[in-house]
Amino acid sequence: MGMKSGRARALLPTAPVGFFDSGVGGLSVLLAARALLPRENALYFADSAHCPYGSKSSDFVRQRALAITGFLLQRGAKAVVVACNSASEAALEFLRQVFPGLEVVGVEPALKVAQGLSRKKKIGVLGTPLTLNGRRFSRLLENFSSGLEVYTQPVAGLVERIEAGRFDDRRTAAILRRSLQPLLDKGIDALVLGCTHYPVIREQIAAVCGPRVRVIDTGEPVARQLQRRLQARGLLRCGRGGGRVEYFSSGDPGDVEPVMRAIMADPALQVSQACL
Ligand code: DGL
Repeated sequence: MGMKSGRARALLPTAPVGFFDSGVGGLSVLLAARALLPRENALYFADSAHCPYGSKSSDFVRQRALAITGFLLQRGAKAVVVACNSASEAALEFLRQVFPGLEVVGVEPALKVAQGLSRKKKIGVLGTPLTLNGRRFSRLLENFSSGLEVYTQPVAGLVERIEAGRFDDRRTAAILRRSLQPLLDKGIDALVLGCTHYPVIREQIAAVCGPRVRVIDTGEPVARQLQRRLQARGLLRCGRGGGRVEYFSSGDPGDVEPVMRAIMADPALQVSQACL
């Protein structure tokens, strides 16, 4: 399998870090990684042809994660960031088993951070059904919810709005109000964004929540974890020069490119199609 050839060669710090998500959501993690580790080269894969993951079976998402990780390794990735809560829920352990030598960094809803920030000890978590019904998330709840009231809210339709670049229209606003109101009614003062798509519309979410609710996402902690893991393996890229990012999508670049350009604030960004 892909990793065999990947392990045969020595990895260099100049090799890229591979990131993937069902679509454009993982760009919120890539942005945090670029802010902390601007010298790193990166590959980003948006599985747009199979988005959303959050309403699909774990088995399906695991197969997608396997194919995409193989693709990233073929393109020389020195580490892989599963920049998607749903794929981390479904496939993180699996990928680590299949690719034992590979550094695989995942994401999970930032309950621990919320626990520290919430004064009322009432926390809301927005996420996909796959993430919120999963085993990793229930373990997380067992570990970090003592003394807390945690209210989870699966959100339907929001990922699709973000994929379409509809960050700020009436339908998106209606989904937000409908999803957030039950949590606000419980009196939460911290909201965990348990899907990497949601930070893309963080401002809109914060506006519905109001100033008393802290909105928390995982981009920065994941970037720090990536930094630690690369450092531990001697794979952190030092020296001069900014890193480059190459973007791929299983969907039509004509659809995904404008949305990625908006999120990355890079009008020159180009996406290559890769049908896996
Ligand atoms: N951005 C992903 C997540 O963090 C995937 C959402 C989806 O495709 O449903 O869960």
